[in-house]
This record gives sequence, structure tokens and C-alpha cells, in this order.
Amino acid sequence: MNIQNKPKRRGDILYELVSSIKRIKDIPTLPKILSKISEEMGNDDYSIKDIGELMSLDISFSSRILRMVNSPFYGFPQRIYSIKHAIVLLGANVLKSIVISTSVFTIMKEAMEGLWEHSLFCAFTAKYIAAMLLNGSDKKGNKMSKENGIADADMMFSAGLMHDIGKVITAIAFRDDFKKIMIIAEEDKRPLTDIEHDILNISHDQLGYMLAKEWNLPSSIYLPIKYHHNVNLASEFKTETAILNLSDFLTRAMGIGYSGNTYIEKINTDTVNILNIDLNFIKNIVEEVYPFKNELSIFD
Ligand SMILES: [Fe+2]
Ligand SMILES: [Fe+2]
Repeated sequence: MNIQNKPKRRGDILYELVSSIKRIKDIPTLPKILSKISEEMGNDDYSIKDIGELMSLDISFSSRILRMVNSPFYGFPQRIYSIKHAIVLLGANVLKSIVISTSVFTIMKEAMEGLWEHSLFCAFTAKYIAAMLLNGSDKKGNKMSKENGIADADMMFSAGLMHDIGKVITAIAFRDDFKKIMIIAEEDKRPLTDIEHDILNISHDQLGYMLAKEWNLPSSIYLPIKYHHNVNLASEFKTETAILNLSDFLTRAMGIGYSGNTYIEKINTDTVNILNIDLNFIKNIVEEVYPFKNELSIFD
């Protein structure tokens, strides 16, 4: 069979789509300013001052970001008054993820009711777990630190916010297939990624990875996104990937927001082993984060 005449698979088309979304300019609701920021950050010698200035140009955009960084979900100990201040305190990559996620907020809400809440709560939980592992000790009482592979809490917040962004792309690019996936996911007791592969030949974790890479985000964000449903395949940023997997799992298990299906698989044993945690640790996390569910309405 002549390979050139072979019909294109959906997955191939989506790959092409993602690479054609260079600097995300094809997604209409994203502010133009974001492509400028992306370009600026693609240069090795980008200046935080320039990015801050670019971000401050759009008032509604910057007020949404400030609302996020000053929210209980971000939990920064002091009030952040300006975008420039936020960049200095949080770093450009973290802020950029917040920028992208808050920019697709409207699309997310339209694409899948509850996805925004799922993503935000997952981000919050991921940050919380990373901070807990960083400051505390593991179940054996070993003090853990950044040096032995513990994730940066702010980066984890970013990865959490963006982890399911691939679903937004499917919702935009293949609306009918996306609806089909949602219907099957309601009925089938199978992971969503399996259903996505059946229909599209690609799943949201891979799409999200391609997109995050396209946007020049660091590998500490795009690799955990790529493997958040396949922790065992991660060869780098294993801790980050495991934290992301656990946060996603717990957010779904707590019934917060909606991520496309109600099927809850068993807790991932790779995650438990990588993080060296026990049920007590998980129970503590759930008890601490769950009450914040009531705060989600501040973004309505
Ligand atoms: Fe996911
Ligand atoms: Fe998720």
C-alpha cells in the first residue's frame, strides 16, 4: 500500500494541529499579548521586566491573574499588588502557566462544565502535596528536600492548572468527537485516555504536553503533563509526575469539578512508591484540602 495514500488518522491531524497552533495565535479567545509573552520567553535572554510590562498592558487579563495569585488556592503569604511584583515573587514560568490557564478559562467552561474547577483544585492539591513533602518528612521520618527530587510547589501549581488542557484542544478542534468521547465516558467504566485513543488515536495528556512545549514552558511542567496518566513511563521528573497523578486522582475521588468521566481507578502504586507515602499521608491531604472546595465560587 502506498503510504502517501493512507488516510490520515485523527491523531496525526491533531499533531499537525498542535504544531500549527504556533504561539497559540489560532485560539481566538487567547489574548494576543500571550503570543508576545511566549515569544519573549522563548529568547534565552528574556527580561522579567519586559514580560511584566507586556502583561500589565491588558487590564482584565492582569486583574484575573492577580485574583488567582491572591486567592486561597495560591495561598501566597502576602498580598501581591502588581503583575511585576507577581513575576518577581513567583517566577515567569509559573506566572505564564497561570496566564495561559486563566486565558482558556472561558473555553474550559464552555468545553466541559467543571473542568476549570477540576484543574484549579488539582493545582491547589499538587502545590499542597509538594509543599508538604518539601517541608515535612516522609512516612519513615526521613527529612525530604528539593535536592532529593522533591518538586517545586509553584511549578506543581502550574502543572496542575494545565494538566488537562489537551481536552480543551480536542473540544475546539473536534467538537463532535469530543461529544462522543464524553457520552462513552459516561457509560463505560474505563479510563478516559483509553476512550480518547479509540476515537482520536491520541489522548489529552499527549496533546497537553505538545501544547505546553509549544508554549515554551519548562520540561518540569510539560513532562509531568505528558505522563500524568502513565507515571510508570516517566523517566524524568518522576516526583512531579507522581504528585500530579495523585492530585488528579484525589480531586476526582473527592468529586470536585468534572474532568470528563466518573470512573475512578485504583490509586496508582507507582505514585505511592515514588512519593514513599502511606494512606495516612493521603488522608491528611484530603482533610486539609477538601474544605477549600467552598472557595471555588470566587472564580464564577
Ligand atoms: Fe488527565
Ligand atoms: Fe485531570
